[in-house]
Amino acid sequence: MDKKRKLGVAGAGALAVVVTLGIAATADAAAATLGAAAAEQGRYFGTAVAAYKLSDSVYSGILDREFNMVTPENEMKWDATEPTQGSFSYGSADQIVSHAQAHNQRVRGHALAWHSQQPGWAQNLSGTALRNAMVNHVTQVATHYKGKIYAWDVVNEAFADGGGGGRRDSNLQRTGNDWIEVAFRTARAADPGAKLCYNDYNTDGQNAKSNAVYAMVQDFKSRGVPIDCVGFQSHFNSASPVPSDYQANLQRFANLGVDVQITELDIEGSGTTQANNFATVTRACLAVTRCTGITVWGIRDSDSWRASGTPLLFDGNGSKKAAYTATLTALGGGNPTSTPPSTPPVSSSSQPPIPSGGCTATVSVNQWQGGFVATVRVTAGANGTNAWAVTMPLPSGATVTNSWSTTRSGNTWSNVSYNGRIAAGQYTEFGLQATGTAGTLSPTCAAS
Ligand code: G3I
Repeated sequence: MDKKRKLGVAGAGALAVVVTLGIAATADAAAATLGAAAAEQGRYFGTAVAAYKLSDSVYSGILDREFNMVTPENEMKWDATEPTQGSFSYGSADQIVSHAQAHNQRVRGHALAWHSQQPGWAQNLSGTALRNAMVNHVTQVATHYKGKIYAWDVVNEAFADGGGGGRRDSNLQRTGNDWIEVAFRTARAADPGAKLCYNDYNTDGQNAKSNAVYAMVQDFKSRGVPIDCVGFQSHFNSASPVPSDYQANLQRFANLGVDVQITELDIEGSGTTQANNFATVTRACLAVTRCTGITVWGIRDSDSWRASGTPLLFDGNGSKKAAYTATLTALGGGNPTSTPPSTPPVSSSSQPPIPSGGCTATVSVNQWQGGFVATVRVTAGANGTNAWAVTMPLPSGATVTNSWSTTRSGNTWSNVSYNGRIAAGQYTEFGLQATGTAGTLSPTCAAS
């Protein structure tokens, strides 16, 4: 509505106003899926995925239609990836990564070092032997997935609940207080292109636990320990509701110079109350510039670790719930007045075309010794876009090893199915990882 109003006012004279409103009405056509709507806001929308469910066509149908980020729910944990010391098993996790790559989805890795879901052999280690085993585990797993992971939960749930504000006791903690920073430095060395996150629960509002995590992030930033993001799991129910200072808490972490991400969202409940809670969480992320995306912890209620609490966006049949519609609407997508929640989304090919218009592209580069990640932002001009292509030659010696949210042909990087349509003045982002040196990159954008 705002976009229409702005464009309408911009028109001069009766004819111009009519034409401009016509353009605005189509440019305003809202994204029909969670992933597409989030992409129009420069964010992702993800879900936890279980490898053994990928063969369920209802499950994978929703996954591939709605989500552009996936987190393996259990398959990358220590017990799954190193069941015997020094012997690594990546089958199920690789299956999820391959599926994601084939469907233009990125991957959040979860989790490299955690007190829980350790294999029996690690549970029985302590001291230097455990520290060395952890370092080897982080190195091996992060190296195996190098270039394929958007962000790693390097360390999960290392702080204690309750008022103490200290670390959780665990076999890892007992190897020395520096175990967390050692894990982060080890992960950076193994995969310098992945964002490195600390992830926890009950840190969603300001409290003793989140204050302790905040102090650690502040300390890491001041000492140059590599940390790029903080994950807020956001498992909510009546005993642990969405805190009133949720957005403020995300913002104070972002102000430390890290990205923030909602990593395991589920909210028990039903109907309007649940829908409003999902909308509140979604709006909080959108209000924080460095909140880069939201992941829900499962697809259908029946997929949830808390299935009886029906905490997700799709019911057991795979139909959209009110919580889905509220989330999509909060993301700026959907057309809730004419699309009932259980109706499949309108595919982009059946939407009216947006008239041609220009676009601009800007690039930010994270360079390290021997490689870099380039993140390109494509912003639509006054007419919006149906499709876009960015021309961006790389210097000789730079070799692309991975890219996301784009398809490449030589020096040309084009939209994929879910991010071609950008409303006027809105943007989407894609990225690539390469070896070599980025130098000065000069992207140019063409839209249709
Ligand atoms: O795969 C076996 C199956 O062969 C066996 O028959 C069955 C019997 O219980 O267990 C199956 O494994 C279970 C696995 O989920 C897969 O369903 C494990 O017992 C069970 O412990 C495991 O639970 C996972 C839990 O982490 C373990 O801590 C949940 O799926 C997973 O959703 C949950 O995720 C955690 C995040 O990693 C961290 N944050 C909290 C979140 C929720 O607890």
